[in-house]
Amino acid sequence: MPAASPIGFFDSGVGGLSVMREARLLLPAEEFMYYADSACCPYGIKPAEIIIERSRAICDFFLGKGVKLIVVACNTASITALEVLREDYQLPIVGIEPAIKPAAAATKNGRIGVLATGLTLSGRRFNTLVEKFGDAVHVYTVPCPGLVELVEAGEKDGPEVEALLGSFLKPLLEKDIDTVVLGCTHYPFIRPTLGVLAGPNVHIIDTGRAVARQLVRVLEQYDLFNPGIGTGRECFFTSGDPEKTGAVVRKLWGDPEAIIERVCL
Ligand code: DGL
Repeated sequence: MPAASPIGFFDSGVGGLSVMREARLLLPAEEFMYYADSACCPYGIKPAEIIIERSRAICDFFLGKGVKLIVVACNTASITALEVLREDYQLPIVGIEPAIKPAAAATKNGRIGVLATGLTLSGRRFNTLVEKFGDAVHVYTVPCPGLVELVEAGEKDGPEVEALLGSFLKPLLEKDIDTVVLGCTHYPFIRPTLGVLAGPNVHIIDTGRAVARQLVRVLEQYDLFNPGIGTGRECFFTSGDPEKTGAVVRKLWGDPEAIIERVCL
C-alpha cells in the first residue's frame, strides 16, 4: 500500500473533525478523507449491530478509495466495533476511547466525570477501561442525549447548548468532580461553553491530541509516512444532506471552500 495514500477518518457526523484537526497539526503532508455518516447520526442511541454494520460499510468505502489507514474518530463506534473491524480488515485501524487513564492520573480529589453517549457508557470496552484504570478513583458517568444533535446543527454555544450541557454537568458538579472526560468526539466543539459552566477548578480532558499522537506512532510502525513535502488536502463525504452537513463541516473545519460529496453506503 503506497505511503502517499490517504488516511480515512469517520464518525457518525461532524464530531470526528475534532480528532482530524489534531491529526492535521501533527501531519501536515498527509492526505485526509473524512466520512460523516450524517444520515445515521446519532450512533449513541442505536443498537450495536447497526453501528458495526455502518462501520464495516464505511471501511469498505475507504478501502475502495485506497486508504492506507483508518481512524475511527468516534468513541461510540470504537467501543462498539473496533475489535470486529480489526479482525475483518488487514490495514491498521486507530480508535478512540474515553480518557479514563489520563483523568485518573490528573484528578486531585479522586473524583472524575465522564460525558459520553449511552452506547459508549454501556459498552464492555468502557467497563474494562474503568476496571483497569479507574479502580482507585470514583468514576461518575452521564449519558448526554441531544448534545450531538446540537453540534450537528452547528451549535457550539448559546442558550440551548448551555441549558442542555448544564443539566448534564449538574450531577457531576454535585459529586464534586475535579476532572471531566469528553467521551465523545463532538464535545470538544462545545468545550469553551463547558469550561465556563464547569468553572476554573474543573480540568477538562479531550482525547483528540492523544489519538493524533497514536496515529503518528502507527504510521511510523508501518513505515507509512507520506513522503511528500507539500500540504496535504482533505476530502469530505457524507451519507446525509451535503448542503446541510457541508455548511457545518465548513464552519467547524474552518475552511469556507470545503466541498462535501454525498455517498450513500
Ligand atoms: N462522535 C461520536 C462519539 O464520539 C458521536 C456519537 C453519536 O453519534 O451519538 O461517540
